[in-house]
Amino acid sequence: MAKAWADGPLPLIPTPRKLLEGKAQTDAEKAATEMAIVHNILIRGLNCMILQAGNVKEPSDVRDFMTYAQTWVHTVHEHHKSEETIAFPFFEKETGENGIMNRNIDQHKGFSLGLDLFAAYINEIQREEVDYSGIKFKELIAAFDSHLIKHLTEEIPTITGLGKYKVNWKQYNKIMTDHAVKAADRDRQVPFVMTHSDDSFEGGIHRDTWPPFPWLAGQMFRLIYVPKHEGAWRFSPCDARGRRKSLPFA
Ligand SMILES: [Fe+2]
Repeated sequence: MAKAWADGPLPLIPTPRKLLEGKAQTDAEKAATEMAIVHNILIRGLNCMILQAGNVKEPSDVRDFMTYAQTWVHTVHEHHKSEETIAFPFFEKETGENGIMNRNIDQHKGFSLGLDLFAAYINEIQREEVDYSGIKFKELIAAFDSHLIKHLTEEIPTITGLGKYKVNWKQYNKIMTDHAVKAADRDRQVPFVMTHSDDSFEGGIHRDTWPPFPWLAGQMFRLIYVPKHEGAWRFSPCDARGRRKSLPFA
């Protein structure tokens, strides 16, 4: 039987672009597609932890696995923070509808306690206050994963639905890109995103737009930043060029 990979057990989200089967996307659908790509990066990371947690034993492997898990937590936090402080207020202003994204903010609250407890456990292991237990690690994930997946999945049609309003999507793309360039942690988050961006996803139709940086920047990240925490990216589902690889601890 083939080894399990990062497209399960939690389901990835199909993009609006794929569902359109070659028809042109509206600006709202483009934004929703990009959001689904980002959400799938987070889901692949969560799947990699669920699939590999039980087989990580050696202290050096545990250390790398905790760096991996902590990067995932930071990436999830950073994603939701940028939505609550930048993207959602922008949508409220553009649509003129107060609270239009409140359902999404409420969903953030639905998994934040579980996520905090998970992050606290990772910190305790890193400080060597407790020994790593794969069982406990997976229990903590199971306490929030269904809430998180529901939220990540439901946010996509919410964004597609903004297509009926007059939203300045060009400005939205600019503020989100500016923020990402400023906020991204090059040592950890950028390598994390690169090694979770499956280049073959949905038949490779997103290769032309993702990852969203120039070829030269990609080369620089691969040469300088990815090697810094190379041990952690062993747990990733892809190499730094987005090519799928097998999960060593699955
Ligand atoms: Fe999101």
